[in-house]
Amino acid sequence: MTSIAPAPSPGDLSRQVRAAVARARHALGDPRAAVNLRWLRAVSGASNERLLDVLGELDGLAPIEEEIHRRHLAGGRANYAQLGAPFEMYALTRVLEPDHVVETGVSSGISSAHFLLALDKNRRGTLHSIDLPTRQRGPLLAKDESPVSIPPGLASGWAIPFRSPRWDLHIGDSATELPRVVETLTGIDLFLHDDLHTPERLALELATIRPKLHPGSAVLADNTNWTGDAFPTFAKEMHAKVYRRGTSYLVGLRLPTKPARRSPRTDPSPPA
Ligand SMILES: C[S@@+](CC[C@H](N)C(=O)[O-])C[C@H]1O[C@@H](n2cnc3c(N)ncnc32)[C@H](O)[C@@H]1O
Repeated sequence: MTSIAPAPSPGDLSRQVRAAVARARHALGDPRAAVNLRWLRAVSGASNERLLDVLGELDGLAPIEEEIHRRHLAGGRANYAQLGAPFEMYALTRVLEPDHVVETGVSSGISSAHFLLALDKNRRGTLHSIDLPTRQRGPLLAKDESPVSIPPGLASGWAIPFRSPRWDLHIGDSATELPRVVETLTGIDLFLHDDLHTPERLALELATIRPKLHPGSAVLADNTNWTGDAFPTFAKEMHAKVYRRGTSYLVGLRLPTKPARRSPRTDPSPPA
């Protein structure tokens, strides 16, 4: 099994960038949305300088974050309670400049919104999202209902306060929708698993996207405390190192850009 790298500390954000992140986080209304620079560096391969540059842009996103927060409050949620790393999704998308981002699991649209904001800023790329919505029973979220459920009359991505022509949203089970989407793509530059968190489903999704990955593709999965060995096994097969985001269960890897060195046993040197 591939070993998981020790939890990195947040790294060194400059004072200015720290202030921009704090403002965006306050506007979004969730203290978990901190930024882990070391994790970003490991998963993207980008320089500190470039990452700090794009993180500085978060300042300008505060009004959108406020509106996302307002919509969650109106939908009966104290905060967005889903993916804890929206600003990292923004930064990764900015620095990787992907043509194709694929995500499974949309719910109110926190991750989708941040992928789209970055793609719009890049003026390049498409987000392909797949969601099988969980429906909220009544107008108020009941105690026994998951906060990912969608209030009556609303749809996947209901808290996203803007429309983007870069969004290709598919409603349905990822087991059937993901292969359909992947088939149409020439490559996948960035993938996020955030739907059904079982080992079998994560393994299936990773096997489905695998033929379209390339050196430098970034692959992320949230809630890996529920998905057993699926992610580390995939990482081992891809000769990639798994990086965990702080103490959360969001993990990521970047496919090596150089071919892995083969062991002498499987690749004997020709006799001199
Ligand atoms: C944790 S939420 C996604 C959170 C989202 N990434 C965000 O940042 O706000 C999981 C979503 O996956 C959906 N889902 C559950 N099972 C699914 C399946 N089999 N196929 C596709 N989506 C599924 C849920 O209904 C929910 O909308």
